[in-house]
Amino acid sequence: MNAEVVDGKLVSQVLREKMKSRVEALAKRDIKPGLAVILVGDDAASQVYVRNKVAACQAVGVYSVVYRLSEDVSEQNVLDELMRLNNNSEINGILVQLPLPKHIDEDKILEIISPEKDVDGFHKINVGAMVTGNARFYPCTPHGVMKLLEHYGVVIEGKHAVVVGRSNIVGKPMALMLLEKGATVSICTSKTSNLASFTRQADIVVVAVGKPKVLSGAMIKPGATIIDVGINRLADGSLAGDVDFDSVREVAGFLTPVPGGVGPMTITMLLENTIRSSEMEEMRQ
Ligand code: GUN
Repeated sequence: MNAEVVDGKLVSQVLREKMKSRVEALAKRDIKPGLAVILVGDDAASQVYVRNKVAACQAVGVYSVVYRLSEDVSEQNVLDELMRLNNNSEINGILVQLPLPKHIDEDKILEIISPEKDVDGFHKINVGAMVTGNARFYPCTPHGVMKLLEHYGVVIEGKHAVVVGRSNIVGKPMALMLLEKGATVSICTSKTSNLASFTRQADIVVVAVGKPKVLSGAMIKPGATIIDVGINRLADGSLAGDVDFDSVREVAGFLTPVPGGVGPMTITMLLENTIRSSEMEEMRQ
């Protein structure tokens, strides 16, 4: 059996088309959603992510502005910029690209962002809201994974999902979102001993550890849905996920590629959250 390779670009396109009409509806009432991105330093991968985020905003009619701060900027300067953005009525979404340089306290930065503009869903208030089933913004990557599963009609309720990875950005919110949809969820990490004994039981596996070839075809159940969140730059310069694509493809039912799987969906969900933030702001007026 050969897995169906999921097309994240195509699903993104479908969702972005629907977003355009929401942006047009807002425009008729003189409202334009606006996203501010703060990028500190010159990490190569972050530069690419931010460029892609800005291009995606432009394509659906969302205003965006990038604040590029030098690697040695003080923590206070970043906090001051965020406070200004919290008070800027043209901005509905604020995103600080992670990781930050070591001298800046990430927790402090994320907590100063107004929860109403926290389109990453990383603020503790938004994390708490999500845990209790009252999410305002779902974090973009797991949100994108859920939309992919929905689009391909993958059943979640009553199924066993294994999430490999425990980051605040992907692993933890992913596990919660699957749980909310009725899956039985196991959370494993890169340190889990005998990972295959967990993944072989899973109907859905989401891998997000940032290491190539963590999951092979021999480690999964035939017909399982395999979601690869990893983006690894290999020695030859090419990109690879966390999944051994060729061997998993022979066993899985659905499989996301890297690139072209989860990546485009993450950006699409950032647009979703920014537009939603603008719509919610209008309702508060
Ligand atoms: N760095 C890697 N992924 C993300 C993300 O989803 N949001 C932000 N802000 N930074 C990231």
